[in-house]
Amino acid sequence: TRFSRILGTGSFLPGDRVTNQALADRLAQDGIETSHDWIVERTGIHARHFAGPDTTSSDLALPAARAALEAAGVAAEEIDLIIVATSTPDMVFPSTACLLQQKLGIHGCPAFDVQAVCSGFVYALTVADSMIKSGAASKALVVGAEVFSRILDFKDRTTCVLFGDGAGAVVLGASDVPGILASELHADGRHVDILCTPGTVSGGEVLGHPLLKMDGQAVFKLAVGVLDKVARSVLDKAGRTDADIDWLIPHQANIRIMQGTAKKLKMSLDKLIVTVDEHGNTSAASIPLALDVAVRSGKIRRGDTVMLEGVGGGFTWGAVLLDF
Ligand code: ACO
Repeated sequence: TRFSRILGTGSFLPGDRVTNQALADRLAQDGIETSHDWIVERTGIHARHFAGPDTTSSDLALPAARAALEAAGVAAEEIDLIIVATSTPDMVFPSTACLLQQKLGIHGCPAFDVQAVCSGFVYALTVADSMIKSGAASKALVVGAEVFSRILDFKDRTTCVLFGDGAGAVVLGASDVPGILASELHADGRHVDILCTPGTVSGGEVLGHPLLKMDGQAVFKLAVGVLDKVARSVLDKAGRTDADIDWLIPHQANIRIMQGTAKKLKMSLDKLIVTVDEHGNTSAASIPLALDVAVRSGKIRRGDTVMLEGVGGGFTWGAVLLDF
């Protein structure tokens, strides 16, 4: 049987680290009040990175992809599939994946974007796993890359303090032994309105509202329940139990949601990988960023069992269980 396994991880954060205090000072200039204490208490976020105005998702994806290739010991020329998960693509088209392919100096392999907001990486990894298992690809580059700062409404304190920019990547390769054990994806379009950026481009003009809108409490309430259910379903499919999970990497949106899901899986909080404190919510980039940080710091080691959980706009959610 043919399986897929993560061969290497990489990530990249743009240079501009913005603390809560720096952001609060910036918002205060527009008469908008927030504080370090409020942000930390409600979200666990201490800082986030913002890319410069000319930096795009593919610019962030490139160094993350290169780091993953190097860690995997794979040359860019060996890659035969590129999937980029992003909700902040460089252009309407072509896809950010095509732009990344060009920046990597390779040509010919299929390259496309996946749009599932903060569940994007879990979606992309599941698609790449399926294509590798079917024989359609053997070495895939799977990237989550976002410049959410581009779509934040800095007049809305309930959302602009939550997000950041960054990219994470993995090289997923064909393997005789299973890496990815099971996965499951879901969407429920009835909840479009609770988290959306409902603008588009038409006739050369922006139509609708081009900035992020979120009903935070509605998202919060849905998130904990669906994440627990999908994680249990994936464990069942893999024939494992919650006691088998060495590390939990939920989408890094809010420390309280993350701790809530860990508790429901009866996991001790030191098995929870947390980067939301330093990255904020980087949407599709958050899970591969957290994975790379945990691998490079020596926490996650070869053979460890890792649960990835994504949840986001759409409403979308999903989970992947893997042996690293
Ligand atoms: N600074 C200071 N005060 C604030 C701020 C701020 N930045 N933002 C809101 N407040 C105020 C509110 O106005 C409100 O004041 P009021 O009581 O006088 O009306 C008070 O703080 C409490 O606001 P709530 O919205 O009730 O705060 P809550 O505890 O629900 O926390 C939060 C808000 C952090 C957004 C939370 O609901 C949350 O994390 N939700 C989930 C969000 C999430 O996970 N989103 C990501 C999904 S991923 C994706 O697809 C993009």
